[in-house]
Amino acid sequence: MRRKLIVANWKMHGNLASNKQLLAAYIEKLSQLKNIDVVVCVPYPYLAQAQSMLQNTGIAWGAQNLSKDAVGAFTGEVSASMLKDFGATHVIIGHSERATAYCESDENIATKFIQAQQHGLTPILCVGETLIEREAGVMQMVVGKQLDTIINRYGAAVFANAVVAYEPIWAIGTGLAASSEQAQSMHKFIRGKVAAQDITTSTSLKILYGGSVKPKNAVQLFAMQDIDGGLIGKCSLNAQEFELICRAAA
Ligand code: PGA
Repeated sequence: MRRKLIVANWKMHGNLASNKQLLAAYIEKLSQLKNIDVVVCVPYPYLAQAQSMLQNTGIAWGAQNLSKDAVGAFTGEVSASMLKDFGATHVIIGHSERATAYCESDENIATKFIQAQQHGLTPILCVGETLIEREAGVMQMVVGKQLDTIINRYGAAVFANAVVAYEPIWAIGTGLAASSEQAQSMHKFIRGKVAAQDITTSTSLKILYGGSVKPKNAVQLFAMQDIDGGLIGKCSLNAQEFELICRAAA
């Protein structure tokens, strides 16, 4: 039985004062949920705040991106070891908002994935198709290719220390989530792809669903066999809604 994982993706929201309130509410509402794991991915400048407030609460924290390089003259970049310095355990890799707006290539994503693992961080690898790709019926081909970039380079065993998040691009921030059947079908495909190379790894791999998860669709989504939790954007900024989503997983 895979333990459910809920990851908050705050994106570029918050400030010291509002984060303090939101994190305090997370601690009050979520610390007693013992049978799920919760991770909050905050903007870089607030990692220290997350570290000081969340230590010993059972809630972990992480970042939303990292550099593909370990160290050096890379202005504006943040390395894996810097994230580790602030106690981060997880890092989101290849979110579609980065892949499109900042031209992140599959090769870059693969390098970041390994960079995270080499520094003891768990990468949360985002995969997903556009609406046009879904309507054309090529969604499995698209997601399969995204996974192959990692598998062909490093083998499927690297997923033993990773999380995959299926985030259909058409569902992110649109209010239009995938149905639980659509999501389950893709999650099963993803697990099968890893299983074709490494059954043990595929069985323990956590595959999250992301894209307009709300309290009212969370129960159905999380009830599906291959959905092991969620990557939550908008609703993670509201402590009540986030609590309901976490409870749906617990
Ligand atoms: P959303 O975002 O929940 O606001 O759709 C999810 C994500 O982008 O990770």
